[in-house]
Amino acid sequence: MPTITVSLGERAYPIRIEAGLIDRVGAHARQLLGDCSLAIITDDNVAPLYLQRVEASLDAAGLRHSSIVLPHGEPTKCLAQLSNLYDFLCESHVTRTDAIIALGGGVIGDLAGLAAATFLRGIRFIQVPTTLLAQVDSSVGGKVAVDLPQGKNLVGAFYQPAAVLCDPLTLNTLTEDYWRDGLGEVVKYGCICDEELFALLEKCAPGGRQALMAEIDTILQRCIQAKADVVAQDERDTGLRMTLNFGHTIGHAVETCQHYNGLRHGEAVALGMAVITRLTEGRGLTAPGTAARLEALLAALHMPMELPPIPESDLISAMGMDKKAAGKALRVILLDAIGQCRIHTADTDFFRGMR
Ligand code: NAD
Ligand code: GLY
Repeated sequence: MPTITVSLGERAYPIRIEAGLIDRVGAHARQLLGDCSLAIITDDNVAPLYLQRVEASLDAAGLRHSSIVLPHGEPTKCLAQLSNLYDFLCESHVTRTDAIIALGGGVIGDLAGLAAATFLRGIRFIQVPTTLLAQVDSSVGGKVAVDLPQGKNLVGAFYQPAAVLCDPLTLNTLTEDYWRDGLGEVVKYGCICDEELFALLEKCAPGGRQALMAEIDTILQRCIQAKADVVAQDERDTGLRMTLNFGHTIGHAVETCQHYNGLRHGEAVALGMAVITRLTEGRGLTAPGTAARLEALLAALHMPMELPPIPESDLISAMGMDKKAAGKALRVILLDAIGQCRIHTADTDFFRGMR
């Protein structure tokens, strides 16, 4: 399987996708970083499955290591756990020539990445993503962050890893919920820039997870290549990178209105993509038939497509587009057709009539 490169000049880095890579982390770390000590950060679901295997690979490569196992889940992505990590890194005598391994999903990747960005003013880190969402999205592109009580990802940095090591076989142990979370993002890449990927998903979706896993190398490769291309052109998220938010404006509004206690993130994104595409097709901004094709794929994946019973005014206020944004131009990501998107400038009335 070829290595994908995120082309960021001196900060360019490789993303390897390879079955069984979890057992070769040590060899890759040695090749990438030389002789150093590795601080592994993981969570209590991932540790029993994969920590020993990563440690054994580091032993085999003759690399020293220490590890910390944090509680799983979004609440771990917080300042208190970041501070806990600084204690762990000090106790492990981590120096500027050492490195962190983030072993887990997006929560661990974002938190460990922020620790790497800030400890000793920045040390190297390797992402070893183990969820579908982390493999196709969060481990690539250098956005690292923790949440504050006031909102998600409010303290963070752009800090690129030294490498991403992605083992598709780790997805076999994911629960169905988290598998579906990642699938929402996978469909998004097909929609915004890769019609061939979309067609592959259409072919596999009726066969369920097993059929999708049979094509997982291709699926991961296409999604990661798409993200790497976007990040290389717009690392700081001032233009093109916004296209990755397709479906997210409505999706996030639904998640907020449901107090993160209703639809899961991937489901909310799926529904957000369906709703915006119906809206823009109805207004002649999207090629006829696009919404029906998207909805057929989402239905085959058992993803929701209809808004839950939340008043439109609540959704619009959750988007921050009511009084705060009145009179301001909004940038909305919409599809021209499957595989092609653009950033459309609209006013705050754009989302009215979405139900
Ligand atoms: P997560 O890290 O909480 O992982 C999901 C669950 O799966 C956890 O319970 C975890 O313990 C478990 N798990 C992980 N790998 C497993 C495996 N192989 N087998 C069994 N269980 C496993 O969540 P996530 O969905 O991976 O990531 C969500 C986070 O990612 C959010 O905090 C979000 O803000 C962030 N995110 C960041 C970016 C970015 O660009 N940095 C992009 C998208 C999302
Ligand atoms: N997940 C959006 C981004 O990386 O920009």
